[in-house]
Amino acid sequence: MAVRHPEEFIIRLATPDDVPRLLQMYVDFEPKVEFQGLPPPTKEKIEQWLTSLTGGGNVNFVIEAADGRIIGHAVLCREASDRAEVAIFLHQEFRGKGLGRKLMEAVIHFGCHCLHLRKIWLSVQTLNLPAVELYRKLGFVTLHDIGDLSSELLMERSVGCPVCRQEECPVFDKRLPLRITLPPAEEPSQSDPPSEDGRPR
Ligand SMILES: CC(C)(COP(=O)(O)OP(=O)(O)OC[C@H]1O[C@@H](n2cnc3c(N)ncnc32)[C@H](O)[C@@H]1OP(=O)(O)O)[C@@H](O)C(=O)NCCC(=O)NCCS
Repeated sequence: MAVRHPEEFIIRLATPDDVPRLLQMYVDFEPKVEFQGLPPPTKEKIEQWLTSLTGGGNVNFVIEAADGRIIGHAVLCREASDRAEVAIFLHQEFRGKGLGRKLMEAVIHFGCHCLHLRKIWLSVQTLNLPAVELYRKLGFVTLHDIGDLSSELLMERSVGCPVCRQEECPVFDKRLPLRITLPPAEEPSQSDPPSEDGRPR
């Protein structure tokens, strides 16, 4: 029999107290520099980058695991009162479980409902399929290819539609803080017999 553990997370706005744990997430993050040069390669450069992201008019969001670790981060960088660029990063252990989608939905909802944005945009490498798929499924459309050999896409999503501005947004009602419980993950138990090659099942 396999033991099953639910995994619980909170998506919320970041606070200044989160910065050390955010730094730790990016120190542990792999692969570094692969996403348009981000995250930066060294602890010192990550610290400088986080200082720039957590200052100014930017709005930062985190996913906190039940053990207190920060395992996801997104930021809305406002460049005008009604327009912001979004960036999102999940620790490698937690990708592909639906958390990126939940975080992006919460960010879009916050940008629309609380910041009254009209547009959210981003750039992404064409070959970054998980990210391109996530953005496409959330309604981002490609404006044009940028970069050498069309290696990057500029994508944008309109927000602030009359429907989203209602109190109860039917599309992205992800008010913060938002609690997420993932389906239990299976772990091999000691009573499971080893497989034929001797490794635990
Ligand atoms: C991109 C990223 C934020 C996506 O978050 P995630 O939690 O891994 O994605 P989710 O599990 O929420 O999946 C969302 C959608 O993306 C798509 N997707 C996820 N992983 C995928 C993969 N390996 N291949 C293709 N599509 C994938 C799925 O279509 C999924 O759709 P669904 O909700 O209908 O199932 C995350 O993988 C990440 O942080 N990657 C590294 C950093 C990065 O690329 N940041 C973006 C830079 S622009």
